[in-house]
Amino acid sequence: MTQPIIEIINLVTYYDSRKILDGINLQIYPGETVTILGRSGCGKSTLLRHIVGLSHPTDGQILIKGSDITRLNEEQRLPTLKKIGMLFQSSALFNSMTVGDNVALPLREHTHLEEPTIQIMTRMKLDQVGLSGFEDFMPAQLSGGMKKRAALARAIAMDPDILFCDEPSAGLDPIVAVGIDQLIMKLKKAFKMTIVVVTHELASVFQIADRVALMDKGKIIAIGTPDDFKNSDNETISQFFNRIPDPENIDKQEYLNSLIGNSK
Ligand SMILES: Nc1ncnc2c1ncn2[C@@H]1O[C@H](COP(=O)(O)OP(=O)(O)OP(=O)(O)O)[C@@H](O)[C@H]1O
Ligand SMILES: [Mg+2]
Repeated sequence: MTQPIIEIINLVTYYDSRKILDGINLQIYPGETVTILGRSGCGKSTLLRHIVGLSHPTDGQILIKGSDITRLNEEQRLPTLKKIGMLFQSSALFNSMTVGDNVALPLREHTHLEEPTIQIMTRMKLDQVGLSGFEDFMPAQLSGGMKKRAALARAIAMDPDILFCDEPSAGLDPIVAVGIDQLIMKLKKAFKMTIVVVTHELASVFQIADRVALMDKGKIIAIGTPDDFKNSDNETISQFFNRIPDPENIDKQEYLNSLIGNSK
């Protein structure tokens, strides 16, 4: 049987006394695309940051290709982490650097490639995300969708085996959002990457996911194919998939409407 490329076992995280992750268990297999759904604040970005080694869980294990990165020091984990790319929720481009330098940064930091090779690779990555010719632009000169694509080019600069995308299409218009989904599908097909995408977009889930994991209050409460989810009669799942607002939020909305004189 295929071994998982990522295996998360009983992951627990506290920030001060607040429990943020409450025993996450998740297995991700090579070449699959998994989307993570869940309400704002349920811990999705925290989970991703742990897997890419940017923050440490309080307890539990994160096995990547069999080695537990929570037990390795920075130097020991570097070879594993170098093969993981991350597209951050905020794009996180360095605003004082050109788009080309942003994409080249991981290559300059983690490889001994000669500068002309780095320049060629940078242009290739920008080409893959449809940003040929933009290497000398500053991030501030790009639109939101272009920034996401530039950040995606940087995330794939090191030819990762595993790519994490934290809300890649949030805040983009639906057509640009579909473009980002298509780009993710292209990476999956062309490079057989294992891809984990946090998203709020149900259209994206059906477009790209082999499996969906639903998080709630620091736990993964369900995992299955998009069709499993669509047909589920579990209340939380169907609430998510059929967009039924919960009573707490309806009251809040009514309250807000009443403040602006919009009450029905
Ligand atoms: N560095 C930190 N220090 C303290 N608390 C944190 C930190 N990072 C996240 N949190 C808390 O952890 C919880 C989960 O945050 P996280 O960013 O993982 O949520 P999320 O599911 O990604 O939400 P969203 O959909 O809004 O992006 C929040 O309550 C947040 O306040
Ligand atoms: Mg988040």
